[in-house]
Amino acid sequence: MKILGIETSCDETAASVVEDGRKILSNVVATSSKMHAMTGGIIPEQAARQQLKSMVHVIKQALSEAFPKLPNLKSQISNLDAISVTAGPGLIGSLLVGVETSKTLSHIWQKPIIPINHLAGHIYANFIRKAPNSKFQIPNKDPSFPLLALVVSGGHTDLVLMKDHGKLKWLGGTRDDAAGEAFDKTARLLGLPYPGGPVISAQAEKLQNQKSRIKMSKFPRPMLDEENFDWSFSGLKTAVLREVDKLKNKEELDDEKVSRLAAEIQEAIVEVLVEKSIRAIKKYKPKSFLLSGGVAANKRLREMFRSRIKDEKLQVSFHVPPVALCTDNATYIAAAAYYNNSPVEWKDIKANPGLSIVEKAQ
Ligand code: KG4
Ligand code: ZN
Repeated sequence: MKILGIETSCDETAASVVEDGRKILSNVVATSSKMHAMTGGIIPEQAARQQLKSMVHVIKQALSEAFPKLPNLKSQISNLDAISVTAGPGLIGSLLVGVETSKTLSHIWQKPIIPINHLAGHIYANFIRKAPNSKFQIPNKDPSFPLLALVVSGGHTDLVLMKDHGKLKWLGGTRDDAAGEAFDKTARLLGLPYPGGPVISAQAEKLQNQKSRIKMSKFPRPMLDEENFDWSFSGLKTAVLREVDKLKNKEELDDEKVSRLAAEIQEAIVEVLVEKSIRAIKKYKPKSFLLSGGVAANKRLREMFRSRIKDEKLQVSFHVPPVALCTDNATYIAAAAYYNNSPVEWKDIKANPGLSIVEKAQ
């Protein structure tokens, strides 16, 4: 079964064709993130305008890459079995671009359409087994149920238990800022560009290579001692602001201190995410633990999970998508649709910016 996935929940315009939820036939992502780097964050209306411009080109490219031997659009479309689209959560203007385009295509092409929850969709990047390109180093191991999934993105931090496809139980999440948001906002305080996650991570690595001797006080680890699976990241922002102001007043905020602060920020976020998830693994004893969402691209976070699971000899298989599939793209939207194949009438699909991870998209 070949499904065309369409994803426009934030600042990406993405389309993919995935076969049987496992094999990527194409993966096209256009992003307006460079535009937002200049303003330090996403301007929703500008993101949606860019998506309107790119949407049709991205879909056409995804189809021609998926079916390189087929000469025209008509024959490529005839090879598709269904369309899947992110219905929420996300920015309303951005979601509408993907949702309305997909509805129109479903109606004209006479293909079933499957709405997908973007957050639950992220988890399915772990179900992809094959890609045409060697930059995706995909481990050859399938996740097993029951599984525990941590979804860490720019707008959400959620821990869920999944008994099967479509059967999600929410265990906890952030009370305020998401983990990705914490990276983005603290990066901005350090004068680093958007998105903050990759730059903070790169700064922290630079420091490791330089073996800096600068010591700084640790940032807080809120809620670490509480017996729940919730997080809070807004206090980190305040603590970083205070430290940055102090250094600026003394004219001491140089490159090395920025790297030191970046490393401390990364450590504070990674430690609380790992600690609480490990506790949940011990409590619920899932067969697999799945990391996903844009923040799952973080090298330190991936390493910490791997080493904690190994050191504590936890009987759980650890899964994390290749870095290129962690951040927003349409492959996991198409994969999620294969495993949760409930088409709806095209007229009934609605963009829902506030959808929670356990709600069904429709
Ligand atoms: O899942 P995603 O692409 O979009 C949303 O659904 O929000 O996640 C984007 C988030 C941003 O906050 C970005 O800073 C973060 O993922 N991110 C990272 C890394 N790469 C992207 N955070 C930490 N380390 C990274 N390497
Ligand atoms: Zn996302």
